[in-house]
Amino acid sequence: MALEGDVCLWPAGRSSRHPDHGFAICQSDPDSDGGFTMKIEYLHASRYGNGAMVAEEFSKQMAARGVTVSVHPIREARPDELPPADLYLFSSPGRMGKPIGGMRRFLKKVGLPAGTKYAVLTTEMAPQPDKKTGRMPTEEELARWQRVRPIMNEILQDKGLVEVAEDKIQVTGVKGPLEEGWQQKVEAFAARIPIQG
Ligand SMILES: Cc1cc2nc3c(=O)[nH]c(=O)nc-3n(C[C@H](O)[C@H](O)[C@H](O)COP(=O)(O)O)c2cc1C
Repeated sequence: MALEGDVCLWPAGRSSRHPDHGFAICQSDPDSDGGFTMKIEYLHASRYGNGAMVAEEFSKQMAARGVTVSVHPIREARPDELPPADLYLFSSPGRMGKPIGGMRRFLKKVGLPAGTKYAVLTTEMAPQPDKKTGRMPTEEELARWQRVRPIMNEILQDKGLVEVAEDKIQVTGVKGPLEEGWQQKVEAFAARIPIQG
């Protein structure tokens, strides 16, 4: 039941009381049918356009599930003034085993309250065979130098943010293109996002 008197500071919108514990639940703004539309803010640091294509595909997939996704390149967003949303998605290309510098700086300045939900969807270079031996690196070897998602998680979890999903979409060359079947991978990732509202 929605109570007019409840104050809902985060996310912006109406509030109601949970049937079990009675505390106010904050919900997004009502949609035209009087229901509630889940909102996702998607912040990406795409340099060559691959991550931007992933963001568009994700938006399309989520729209089909009734979820609104607002996509922003990080250069157009203020990390300390992010709009209210039910979930924040951060997407970075890899650089020397880390997230690109701009994304690392952005994440360090993110000013979201502890408990805020987030997801990570990176674009990363597909593992390459060793030039001399032709051997593919093992999972263990890859994990030692490829720390794109772990670094993003460390920064966000230090602020008390809570991860709901993570994955990577691979590129087959340094600047792209995206791996074959990438749309299906984005679709599978979108299906793992818990829908609320
Ligand atoms: C200088 C340089 C270093 C890179 N280092 C890595 C890396 O360490 N790990 C990785 O997965 N990808 C690396 N990449 C490839 C990026 O993953 C790729 O450029 C990016 O995912 C493409 O996405 P974008 O088009 O959205 O920028 C590197 C690319 C460049 C240009």
